[in-house]
Amino acid sequence: MLVELLYCSVSVAPHLTDEDLNHILASARRRNLAEDITGMLIYHQGEFVQILEGENKSVANVYEKFIDPDLRHTRINKEQENTISHRSFNECSMGFVGAPEIESLMPSSGMGILMNMLTDEAKSKPLSLGLSAFVSIYNQIRKSPNR
Ligand SMILES: Cc1cc2nc3c(=O)[nH]c(=O)nc-3n(C[C@H](O)[C@H](O)[C@H](O)COP(=O)(O)O)c2cc1C
Repeated sequence: MLVELLYCSVSVAPHLTDEDLNHILASARRRNLAEDITGMLIYHQGEFVQILEGENKSVANVYEKFIDPDLRHTRINKEQENTISHRSFNECSMGFVGAPEIESLMPSSGMGILMNMLTDEAKSKPLSLGLSAFVSIYNQIRKSPNR
């Protein structure tokens, strides 16, 4: 059974460097690849938003064992957890969007990055509940990056 999980959290360190983020992403991507988990992570001014998708067992395992207990973030709030009929994200084990993309002056560039990560199936069908919530949070952050 395929599922998607969307959560928001707050970084414990007020400003993560590229190096901090690369550490998180490197081990996340390694495990996600092994567990066949796809998705996307946003980090902006201390806030994380992440959507994960994959087999129910894998997503639950990675979330409960590695993401939820990770002391680098807190105030973790699960926003969505749904079964899905198809994946939205390409084989990319965990796409990433950070401040440069979010604060880019080209309004289309941020959405373009996200669209490039979506599967053809996702583009041709109505958005899943989790993805549509993810897109709306992404747009809120882009509209008011200094909220
Ligand atoms: C915001 C955030 C997102 C994360 N996303 C993932 C993820 O998608 N997959 C994963 O396996 N771990 C994720 N993690 C957990 C860590 O990146 C890492 O897997 C954990 O620290 C254990 O890594 P290690 O076994 O390489 O030491 C995340 C952690 C944080 C703080």
